[in-house]
Amino acid sequence: MTDHFAVLGNPIKHSLSPFIHQQFAQQHSHELEYEKIEAPVDEFKATVEKLYEQGYSGLNVTLPYKLEAHALAESLSERAMLAGAVNTLIRTDQGWYGDNTDGIGLISDLEAVLGDTLNSMHILILGAGGSVQGILPALLEQQPASIHIANRTAAKAEQLINQYDDENLSASGLDFKFPQMYDLLINATAASLDGEAPALAHTPLISSACYDLFYAAKPTEFMQWGKQLYGPKVKSSDGLGMLVRQAAASYELWTETYISDELIDSIQAELRQKLTR
Ligand code: ATR
Repeated sequence: MTDHFAVLGNPIKHSLSPFIHQQFAQQHSHELEYEKIEAPVDEFKATVEKLYEQGYSGLNVTLPYKLEAHALAESLSERAMLAGAVNTLIRTDQGWYGDNTDGIGLISDLEAVLGDTLNSMHILILGAGGSVQGILPALLEQQPASIHIANRTAAKAEQLINQYDDENLSASGLDFKFPQMYDLLINATAASLDGEAPALAHTPLISSACYDLFYAAKPTEFMQWGKQLYGPKVKSSDGLGMLVRQAAASYELWTETYISDELIDSIQAELRQKLTR
């Protein structure tokens, strides 16, 4: 019997999720169909309910619906509760169970890039929007030495960290004079969408890696900025690996099938070829 899955978003035309999940299924001889569905803005809930009635086994949810998916799920994982957002819905007899694999996708990709765990690292994040809110619980769970969040609108970064009672979390504007060396710099601003690196008044010292949540066919502006500033000793990566790894984590939840690093790497290489911009 064929299992049915889908990714919902708006827009959704360019989603790579169907390709990724078909690769997982092919490798494990699973019979599944994975579609992309553009849910109209005011019909997300109705669409999700209809797919439940039609017997869909699982859904991925992307922009702009992660908060709505969180609100409509009948039950939630702890990490989805903490993130306040859902990217994976799993069918249960009692309705949809909401989970969030974005954080774990990022962590496993960061570990692959760094060749190390985040434990005891000093992390600097640029941006304080929805994606940072979504990944922050997973980052904190790794018990880094500190996380500093710098955002164009400083108040938004302050607001975000105030949701946590954690003395290793701090916040500022992008004009901050960074007082210390960081192991890892994560760009989570939407500046990459405009082909720009976020403008910092003072350059932070970075020792291990620059990671852009955004991805593209070529190294992003942020990655190029990092390479130029820090040289080849500091690794740089975009978020394509995170995309494949959050998908792998969803697939594992739906099918209880382990997706190997080798498969993740080969899918990532294929995707890189498919990206046109
Ligand atoms: P996402 O879901 O991708 O996080 P978002 O919630 O709209 O999207 O957040 C976008 C983030 O990028 C915000 O932190 C935003 O800063 P503000 O809070 O000041 O708006 C940041 N951002 C957007 N364009 C930027 C730019 N050109 N330079 C620096 N930061 C930018």
